[in-house]
Amino acid sequence: MSAKTIERKITVPGPRVSPLFGHITQVLNFVGDSIKLSSQLFDKYGSVVSLALGGGTNVYSPYPNCPGTVLGYGADIVREVTSQHDIYHKCPLSGHIYRKRNDSARTQPFRHFLVGLFGVNGAEHRQHRQLLMPAFHRQRIEAYRDEMVEITQSELEKLQVGEVVDILEFMRRLTMRIATKTLFGRDFSKDGDSFTNLLKEVFGNFASPAVLGLPYDIPGFPYHNLLNNMAELDARMRAIIGQKRETGIDNGDVLSMLIQARDAESGITLTDDELLGHLGVLYAAGHDTSANTLTWTLFLLSQHPQVAADLLDELDSVLHGEAPTIEQLQQLPLLERVIKESMRVLSPLPWNGRVTSQDTTLSGYDLPKGTEVFVSIYHTNRVPEIYSEPKRFIPQRWEQIQPSIYEYNPFSAGSRVCIGASFAMMEIKIILAMLLMRYRLELLPQKVDAKGLIVLCAENGISMRVCKQDREFYRGVGGISGNVRAMVDLVE
Ligand code: HEM
Repeated sequence: MSAKTIERKITVPGPRVSPLFGHITQVLNFVGDSIKLSSQLFDKYGSVVSLALGGGTNVYSPYPNCPGTVLGYGADIVREVTSQHDIYHKCPLSGHIYRKRNDSARTQPFRHFLVGLFGVNGAEHRQHRQLLMPAFHRQRIEAYRDEMVEITQSELEKLQVGEVVDILEFMRRLTMRIATKTLFGRDFSKDGDSFTNLLKEVFGNFASPAVLGLPYDIPGFPYHNLLNNMAELDARMRAIIGQKRETGIDNGDVLSMLIQARDAESGITLTDDELLGHLGVLYAAGHDTSANTLTWTLFLLSQHPQVAADLLDELDSVLHGEAPTIEQLQQLPLLERVIKESMRVLSPLPWNGRVTSQDTTLSGYDLPKGTEVFVSIYHTNRVPEIYSEPKRFIPQRWEQIQPSIYEYNPFSAGSRVCIGASFAMMEIKIILAMLLMRYRLELLPQKVDAKGLIVLCAENGISMRVCKQDREFYRGVGGISGNVRAMVDLVE
């Protein structure tokens, strides 16, 4: 035991909550609208706060005896947390439900689904990351360009001029098709959608309140359905892995690459369980993030007609209506700035979640082992000293500023920086360029609530009318209500 034993009580400032239901209420409020609650707490207590004074809350750590939840933002906090990866551990993306993994034979898939890179730390993380890296090397990613273009084209064909679409749903379908094609090598939408439906059912329900609140394996309960779906997905994914192992052919997809991956020193390769874990995480981390980034960017463009007009000028002058080549993707500086600014204002992944693996200190405060730490990407990316008028969407600001990785980090920082960042940027650029040259999406007056603990998402989608690209960008500006107005300056 060290000379100075840190008490298991959290001493970070925070609100006093009632001992009866206060902690659970705080957790529910944070899960319900993490940005609203944390903004209030940061305003009141500073850049490092406890969700409840003295601790006692547990939002996502699957480990027993979580002492509490600490939130922080700003470059110094980001640096402290993301550069000390042996102290600030990650947990499986499945959060609380991971505790159920040894309950019965039916809960065994919890051991690997949504575990992947998020479920390993220290040397094990370094080894797995090295095995995965070749699948995300530049050349490998660039080879996905044709598939991204083909799938985007086929989804754009389906849009009808005049129809109203939920653009989030559209983007989810599109990015899901790209994810399954590039991960598994097959466009599952052509197989009657049963596989993609299964993926949706499983990965969409891990954190649903109905599953977490009533985790009973009894017919009729959502948890029971989740276990059924997980068993089916498990079997189907194992069959795909088995087929690929048998043929031994590298089809250019991520799975082929991972099957062949071998640790240079130990010669170790990935087991089927590990492959299932990695594929699930890549799928979950990779498609909803891009779908929401695309949705928020189209939303912001619809409310900033001059930016939309300048962007279309750039796209037309470089691409002349054709899908971008790899070289052309480097020649679209405004497109890059629009995406960067969109991810700054409405950060698709607002939090980096960690659990301390030992007693430590953060910004001078003692943190006991097991403390959950959430670092806010959202608040870090709107510090006024770096971003003047932080609530305004100004892509041109990127001509003047060059923040460090700790000051601007939509893809996080340090050794756990997003492995799919280049993939995502390429995908988002291709989809936006192809869509905007063909259609103008007109926002309908509506309430837009941006919520989410893992992905910042428009709670009820975003309805837009599909118009041919007529440059009438002033149509559809205004008429927005909802909590998004507290996040970004919009016209009345
Ligand atoms: C706009 C799209 C995306 C955003 C904003 C994003 C953001 C992030 C962030 C912030 C993290 C760090 C999370 C943390 O440490 O708590 C992360 C990690 C990760 N991302 Fe992404 N991501 C995106 C797209 C993708 C794509 C397309 C893939 C894969 C195809 C991917 C795969 C991963 C993986 C595997 C990790 C874990 C890395 C590790 O722990 O070593 N992401 N991402």
